[in-house]
Formats: sequence, C-alpha cells, structure tokens
Amino acid sequence: MVSNAEARWPEFDSDAYHGNNYRLMRGDDRKMLEIMVKWFAGSGARGCSGFDAGAGANLYPALAMLPFCDKITLLEFSLRNVEYLRRQVARLDASWAPFWKVVRRHADVGDFAWAR
Ligand SMILES: C[S@@+](CC[C@H](N)C(=O)[O-])C[C@H]1O[C@@H](n2cnc3c(N)ncnc32)[C@H](O)[C@@H]1O
Repeated sequence: MVSNAEARWPEFDSDAYHGNNYRLMRGDDRKMLEIMVKWFAGSGARGCSGFDAGAGANLYPALAMLPFCDKITLLEFSLRNVEYLRRQVARLDASWAPFWKVVRRHADVGDFAWAR
C-alpha cells in the first residue's frame, strides 16, 4: 500500500484497471451508482456543471452526473488515464452500457446512444 502522492500514476495501466474493476459491473458499484443518481434526481439539479477529481478509468461517476449537467469536467493526473478518458469521450465503450441502464432507471434520459 502506498499513499496517493507516492503512487506511480504516470505508469498506471488504465486498460487493466478498467478491465479488473469495471468491465463487469460489481454489486457494490451498482449500489453506489444508484445512490448517486437517486440523490442527484431528488435534488432537482438541472443544467449543472459536474466535476470528477481523479476520474481515472472510471466513467460511472460522470454517467451519474450526465442527466443533470450541461458540462462535466474530468480532472486526471495520469497521462495514460487522460488518454483512456479521451478515447471514451470520442466513443464510450460498450462496457459502460450496463451502468447507463442503472442511470436510466432513476433519471429521465435517452438510451446509450444518447449517452455516447
Ligand atoms: C484511486 S484512483 C481512482 C480512479 C477512479 N476515480 C475510480 O473510481 O476508479 C485515483 C485517481 O486520481 C488520480 N490523481 C491522483 N492525484 C491526482 C491529482 N493531484 N490531480 C488529479 N488526479 C489525480 C490518479 O491518476 C488516479 O486515476
């Protein structure tokens, strides 16, 4: 275990991290996503500016904010993660579709093509 400041983020393997953690949605992530989207929906937020500090190779916080935001900023330190995120902005990977399905259950938004 190392602290955030000690971690070697520039060498971070984004694809392996995404594969190990998010390629298949885990129950704890599903629960977390539901809590986030329900909270945003209940807050009445619309047209907001979203922000994810240290987004890494994880798009579901951004997906949770998407129905309620006109703009989302993903701040990321690791160049490899920035490259991963840029690829996702260009075309969101199909592995995020199950996450979007959870979002849609609690927010009035379009399908995965809309999210893309
Ligand atoms: C533990 S990972 C979490 C990644 C992702 N949010 C997730 O939930 O899977 C922490 C992330 O924060 C990024 N990070 C660390 N220090 C940062 C800083 N000072 N500014 C921006 N991002 C930073 C790292 O590159 C890494 O992607």
